[in-house]
Amino acid sequence: MIGLFDSGVGGLTVLKKFIHRAPGASFVYLGDTARTPYGNKGANTIEKYAIENTRFLLERGATSIVIACNSVSAVALDALRKTYPEIPFFDVITPATELVAADTSIKKIGIIGTRATVGSGVYQDLIHQTRPDAQVVAAACPLLVPLAEEGWQGRPETQRIVRRYLKPMRDAQIDALILGCTHYPLLLKEIRSGVHKRVKIIDSPRAVYEKIAASHPELFSQKENPSQQFFFTDCSEHTARIAQTWIGRGIRCELAELEF
Ligand code: DGL
Repeated sequence: MIGLFDSGVGGLTVLKKFIHRAPGASFVYLGDTARTPYGNKGANTIEKYAIENTRFLLERGATSIVIACNSVSAVALDALRKTYPEIPFFDVITPATELVAADTSIKKIGIIGTRATVGSGVYQDLIHQTRPDAQVVAAACPLLVPLAEEGWQGRPETQRIVRRYLKPMRDAQIDALILGCTHYPLLLKEIRSGVHKRVKIIDSPRAVYEKIAASHPELFSQKENPSQQFFFTDCSEHTARIAQTWIGRGIRCELAELEF
């Protein structure tokens, strides 16, 4: 069974794609809403949280882990693989970079993400490995995660903040934009209108699904009564409402009692 985790509701953008493509697959999701955001924290803290989250998912029956968080994928993937060498881990960075690198019409690539993700340089390095000629413009957008967690879509304040963050992307006349944070699809409308119409916005959750489904189709095997569980380390009404709105149906949000 697949286990997915994120610092909060952001990973649900990946899970939503999984549910759409494989509605009968079993999964267990953990949103670490008690400790969100991760993206402004140091690598040691993010690694510690990632290991604790993984342990929780494994105890709940997960047999492979989707790191539905770019910040964790960027800074803690090696630590996770070292701690749990027998468990397959899937990150959310590689699939989007492969997609972009394969499209030679894309010459200038914009990346937005958290401080941890952008500062790690992982996106930039992966793209340059196959496309050394590509121009990469990256910007950390630390205010976007709280705005998404708050459900502040459609507000003029949010639009203004997003526009300001995207200024370097407009100045550089990027061809494609990678949303390097799983929270950002929640602000897709604002992001879309902050860049030129011709900019391709990379559908990262789709790239993640397709990469995993191609190599591990058994993880998406369909059952009539799949086990689909949603856990949050802080399970307020607000979190439950945002999670349900995003998944698009009533879901039972359970409290994850992690020992911090
Ligand atoms: N959604 C996460 C990511 O993809 C985490 C954002 C955060 O907690 O700062 O990076």
